[in-house]
Amino acid sequence: MNKFVVLISGYGSNLEAMCNSGLAPNIAAVISNKKDVRGLTIATKHNIPTCVIEHTSFKSRKEFDQALKEQIDTYAPMFVVLAGFMRILTKEFVDHYENRLINIHPSILPAFIGPTAQHDALEKKVKVTGATVHFVTVALDSGPTIAQGIVPLKHDDTLETIKARIRELEHVIYPFVIKKYLANQISIGADNAVIVKLDANDANLTGKFLHHIFY
Ligand code: GRF
Repeated sequence: MNKFVVLISGYGSNLEAMCNSGLAPNIAAVISNKKDVRGLTIATKHNIPTCVIEHTSFKSRKEFDQALKEQIDTYAPMFVVLAGFMRILTKEFVDHYENRLINIHPSILPAFIGPTAQHDALEKKVKVTGATVHFVTVALDSGPTIAQGIVPLKHDDTLETIKARIRELEHVIYPFVIKKYLANQISIGADNAVIVKLDANDANLTGKFLHHIFY
């Protein structure tokens, strides 16, 4: 069975969504850079091995990334999924997992990169925002786009309501992309354009987001 490793730092709602959509058996391990976080509890509940590697125990970013890479590779995963992993990764790490490292970001990239994407969208008073699943490259939130989904931003939205609306979208789009990757239905061209191969069974998979997710 093809397996992947999930890296987290906290709450783990995306990890939970993966588990709830039947992906738990495909998760070789969940690794967190913080101990005692909710995401680790979710993993344990689904019988997924967990591991904590605290970045604070290392002298440099490079040494932490090296230890992380060594731990990930003990599981020999097909690919690695970032799900709220709040660390900037070194070039060595990113290069090691070229085209095998994916992330989800709470905006329609390239708009609103960085950790305050929902706040920034709200402040700019844009009419739509969303989520992007992308391959990770060394530049922050900038790798080839795999899939994007959109949600409206309403005049009475607060940071909490817009975060919740984007999360609901993320919990559909991320498991979908991961299943496609596991099925070898994602390819990346020389021009960095990503092709997601859809089949007849996919017609209703995205439910209420059917017309709001683009591959
Ligand atoms: C999500 O908003 C994701 O887009 C961002 O980090 C958050 C993780 O949330 N990269 P959770 O820990 O999965 O609940």
